[in-house]
Amino acid sequence: MHKRPVIGVVFGTRPEAIKLAPVIFELKNRSDEFEPVLISTAQHRQMLDQVMNVFGIEPDIDLNLMTHNQPLSGIAARVLEEVDRVLQSRPFDLLMVQGDTTTAFAAALAAFFRKVPVAHVEAGLRSRDLLNPFPEEANRRLAGVVTELHFAPTGLARENLLGEGVNPENVFVTGNTVVDAARILVERGVADQPLPAGIPDDGSRLVLMTSHRRESWGPELENICLAVLDLVERFPDVRVVYPVHLNPNVRGTVNSLLQGVDRVHLTEPMDYFGFLSMLRRSYLVLTDSGGVQEEAPTFGKPVLVLRKVTERPEASMRGLSVIVGTSRERIVEEASLLLSDREVYRRMSEAASPYGDGRASERIVKAIGRWHRGQQPALEEFDQFEFAPEAAEVEEAAA
Ligand code: UD1
Ligand code: UDP
Repeated sequence: MHKRPVIGVVFGTRPEAIKLAPVIFELKNRSDEFEPVLISTAQHRQMLDQVMNVFGIEPDIDLNLMTHNQPLSGIAARVLEEVDRVLQSRPFDLLMVQGDTTTAFAAALAAFFRKVPVAHVEAGLRSRDLLNPFPEEANRRLAGVVTELHFAPTGLARENLLGEGVNPENVFVTGNTVVDAARILVERGVADQPLPAGIPDDGSRLVLMTSHRRESWGPELENICLAVLDLVERFPDVRVVYPVHLNPNVRGTVNSLLQGVDRVHLTEPMDYFGFLSMLRRSYLVLTDSGGVQEEAPTFGKPVLVLRKVTERPEASMRGLSVIVGTSRERIVEEASLLLSDREVYRRMSEAASPYGDGRASERIVKAIGRWHRGQQPALEEFDQFEFAPEAAEVEEAAA
């Protein structure tokens, strides 16, 4: 039997684990062809463990790097050094990273320094504004510079990479693996969960919200919270459910403005199963999260994006989301429109997701296999992934 390629898969935060879980399953299903080695930086400790428990995944190596309120340089330096140590411990044929976190960027750089080829999942997203989102726009560009295999979720992401001079033969359009992750949980029965304890099931319309972006800390996050106060006052049949991110810079502001407010339910971070159940039950989503922007259209939920720009414009281009920024007035205005105009709401909730069809991990692993065997994958197999009619099936299966 030929030697199986050793594929290091690095992750550290909640979204990386969610989006790599389906790829890990796919690699493990083909264990006759690949030897995956799962490397957790644990940039997030509790929020990562929640995801790992839901998917039943154990890392082979847990670097356990999180510290309280960690500065960007501190976590970047520790990831660089500790991933380097892992790369020295045995030969790797490829190191896979995902997205735009410090873990993704610093692990890619560590691999580059050791001349280990890098595969970047969710490559090519661009907001074209280095400070929004911060530092993620820089992280994903920096990771891309040292990447050999670019797995672009959409045709637009591929265009971004080609525009930067990346060799088209190294860019594969796969769909976003978050749709695969959601599909796996739908198959496990995510549709049938009751509301979390403390949220009355009284027929209220549920607005699911998340906000944690670094560039919004301080006055902008305060504006977002004030907009929530306005909304619950204006709409007596609305409850806002906000699982608050564990970052202390987020919790301070959110707790001081929203704790104890009637019909505003602040919760601990939900596990992925619980969060997708809430998403399915919600009427409207307010978020600055990357992953939630992609998941909401998969479940037919309109999204108001609490950011000035997004690197995931496909939903707004199709009229499934609106980029509302962080102004209190604008958030209240757009949310009020969706909460009161059924026709506007219908238009924003009926199209299929532009982000994937639930088969991205299969495409990624297939492309890695061909690359390892020295065959160039046929480009037409990875052609522009523009629209994903099958994504609607995820919602149908959940209904
Ligand atoms: C990180 C990513 C961001 C991503 C987000 C997803 C970077 C620079 N930022 O931001 O791109 O959108 O994760 O959630 O990579 N904490 C805990 N327990 C946890 C997680 C966080 O206590 O399970 C607290 C710790 O005090 C930690 C702090 O939050 O030091 C910040 O974590 P960090 O990963 O540096 O930044 P995030 O804001 O979580
Ligand atoms: N999520 C979760 N529990 C929560 C909030 C979010 O499981 O309480 C999931 C969500 O479904 C999405 C991912 O976490 O897949 C997004 O992570 P986050 O918003 O932290 O990071 P981003 O995507 O902005 O990098």
